[in-house]
Amino acid sequence: MNNVETVKDTLTTYAKMVEKALEEYLPSESCLQQSVITAMKYSMSSGGKRLRPALTLEFARLCGAKPETVMPLACAVEMVHCYSLIHDDLPCMDDDDMRRGKPACHIAFDEATALLAGDALLTQAFETIAFKCDPQQIPLENILRCIKVLSRAAGTQGMVGGQTLDIGLRDKSVSAGMLDTMYSMKTGALITASVKLGCIGAGADNEKVEAANKYAKKIGLAFQIVDDILDVTGDAKTLGKPTGSDKENNHQTYVDIYGLDKSRSIVKKLTNEAKAALSCFEESAFLCDLADYLAEREH
Ligand code: IPE
Ligand code: IPE
Ligand code: MG
Ligand code: MG
Ligand code: MG
Repeated sequence: MNNVETVKDTLTTYAKMVEKALEEYLPSESCLQQSVITAMKYSMSSGGKRLRPALTLEFARLCGAKPETVMPLACAVEMVHCYSLIHDDLPCMDDDDMRRGKPACHIAFDEATALLAGDALLTQAFETIAFKCDPQQIPLENILRCIKVLSRAAGTQGMVGGQTLDIGLRDKSVSAGMLDTMYSMKTGALITASVKLGCIGAGADNEKVEAANKYAKKIGLAFQIVDDILDVTGDAKTLGKPTGSDKENNHQTYVDIYGLDKSRSIVKKLTNEAKAALSCFEESAFLCDLADYLAEREH
């Protein structure tokens, strides 16, 4: 197997573990409020790359924890991510009709249900950490630290803040520095939270948490730049979401500022810097190959 196939294989293994755990963590539909739960499960079901929980599980592994110990943390990040996608696709945001290869939540259901499904997933993320993390495995102070990290990453200083900038800067010309700030918030923050949760959940020391954070900041920014590139060069069927969304919404992106070639070379530079940050981890081969894979991804 070459490196790309090994990365795909490992991601699939992690995705299967995460999807099995999500079945346990998501609420049952046999209740009056089943419509919102059906919508949550629809958007959480397969189709996504499950990158963020894979990062949590891999960093936890490198720091000596079993997957089951940090699984509530991994799934919590995926829930916050999925909520962000549901809301990002709404007509008042990017107004996109397809997500993960199927109709977006507000198309499959309706806007009100999609709004509530997003709200519920955000809450479910923290409920999952609070109820499913085992204090025998993760000391309470580390569970609290994880809640602090994830809430910061999701809120006004992180994803929501970045989405706010994204909406506010529509139709405007944006500086490269501002774009970096926005990307680090709207996309980078949840990716850095994913790796930190893996490390903290495994009881890692600060040196490891910081190294993981540095890796994630670099791949997080690269990830959004590649997303911009794919919005121009990608294939909607492979991506599972529409292309041309940024142009349609008058969102200035890396491609507008730097062009395709320079954007690709910035991704390469960030990827190399990410890999260099991993020197304190003994077994960093998968994370290095993953960074390369993400830089070259087609979806
Ligand atoms: C899409 O994220 C939104 C961005 C932050 C660019 P992903 O590309 O990770 O989406 P899924 O989870 O695979 O659907
Ligand atoms: C969204 O960025 C980032 C989020 C926080 C959801 P995009 O709007 O570019 O993501 P896609 O292309 O719709 O997945
Ligand atoms: Mg958007
Ligand atoms: Mg979008
Ligand atoms: Mg995009």
